[in-house]
Amino acid sequence: ARANIGVVGLAVMGSNLARNLASREGNTVAVHNRTYARTEQLVTEHPEAGFVPSESIDDFVASLAKPRTAIIMVQAGKGTDAVIDQLAERFEPGDIIVDGGNANFQDTIAREQRIAPTGIHFVGAGISGGEEGALHGPSIMPGGSAESYETLGPILASIAAVAEGEPCVTHVGTDGAGHFVKMIHNGIEYADMQLIAEAFDLLRTVGGLEPAAIADVFAEWNRGPLESYLIEITAEVLRHVDAATGKPFVDVVLDQAGSKGTGVWTVQNALDLGVPVGGIAEAVFARAVSGKQAQREAVRRVVASRPQPQRVDASFADEVAKALYASKVVAYAQGFDMITAGARKYGWDIRKDRIAKIWRGGCIIRAQFLNRIAEAYDEDPDVATLLEAPYFAQAVADGERAWRRVVATAAQSGVPVPGFGAALSYYDSLAVERLPAALVQAQRDYFGAHTYQRVDRPGTFHTQWSGDRTESEVPGH
Ligand code: 6PG
Repeated sequence: ARANIGVVGLAVMGSNLARNLASREGNTVAVHNRTYARTEQLVTEHPEAGFVPSESIDDFVASLAKPRTAIIMVQAGKGTDAVIDQLAERFEPGDIIVDGGNANFQDTIAREQRIAPTGIHFVGAGISGGEEGALHGPSIMPGGSAESYETLGPILASIAAVAEGEPCVTHVGTDGAGHFVKMIHNGIEYADMQLIAEAFDLLRTVGGLEPAAIADVFAEWNRGPLESYLIEITAEVLRHVDAATGKPFVDVVLDQAGSKGTGVWTVQNALDLGVPVGGIAEAVFARAVSGKQAQREAVRRVVASRPQPQRVDASFADEVAKALYASKVVAYAQGFDMITAGARKYGWDIRKDRIAKIWRGGCIIRAQFLNRIAEAYDEDPDVATLLEAPYFAQAVADGERAWRRVVATAAQSGVPVPGFGAALSYYDSLAVERLPAALVQAQRDYFGAHTYQRVDRPGTFHTQWSGDRTESEVPGH
């Protein structure tokens, strides 16, 4: 046994992760793939890595020093279970199986339960940062037992991205906690991307700027509070010109956004947890709308004329920046609320300040901004919402007028802003003294005797809507 860590599944993510591991002092990396040709190719192409290749799973397991630690990097789903079973049959108590794929956290909980009686540790680890991240330093969100993290933690820390001197990895919590937090990361990723896209649409349709000029605006934003990887790559995408047509690249891409499903999981679970994540949900729906060609064409056919874009002045770009920032704060507040709710439901002890910190580097949503979130949760782990934390309360207050103007301008100009709009409505829902939920509850009592509570005294009540409309107190509530 020569290797302290093994990787099973050598497609791009697995290969890159294996190379990253091999490049770090102290690691010897065993590699295995279902088809051996892939393993041979990797080993031949990267002699510097000193990989320990195995054609059979038996040899792979034998090549690992104890406690054996193997990271599975195969397509999430059935393939994962097959590899887990192969390893579990050969591993011994104390050994560690890590699933580094984008697994559904519910599957991870079930797999951990299935493996736990064998004494083998099962770890679901969210890994963010795409192919480049896997190779040069991802953000890693491992779940699983604290004991397994003693072995695994230093290995993961050796390959993770580094943000302000700290490796972007932390023990998130038991069983599915790591994949749950990765799911939230992706939900926020969807929201971030949608908000940036809406900002682009406003700057172009209302602001009248061409993509290259908008690239400059985004590059400028990237030097301020909006600094982030996604803003940075957006500037690059907008500057890019299509070689075949000479048009801005963004204009030759079909306006239809795909998804592999993690954003959908976020919203499905938000509904189950009862956490309002409208900013994230609208981002998921916006991708869905973009694919509804039949409906889009049908409505375009019946619409006689579209509104003229409103006239705006030179300060418009700054206002859009403020609207973007405030909407982004809402999306993150919603994502972190969901972490709180998930932790409560599934019994995880999740340090939200640490999650914010490991998202500062390596992952798709990496940004300086995460420092502010880390500070907020560090100061008060029980803050009811990020919107209450002093820094964010002030930031939103500073941007509020611009935010409202931008959403109003969008509505009058006919520019769809589901992300900006949902974020602002969410903020107003929390900020307003009284919600029209009073009327909804009254309607429920009218047609279904669902009862209501009063503002002026305790108890549960029902009004005889079909009779003389007297009110009675409902006992036993
Ligand atoms: C990451 C990304 C990564 C991947 C998503 C994209 O953190 O590295 O989130 O996991 O890019 O699968 O998701 P969609 O295909 O759903 O956009």
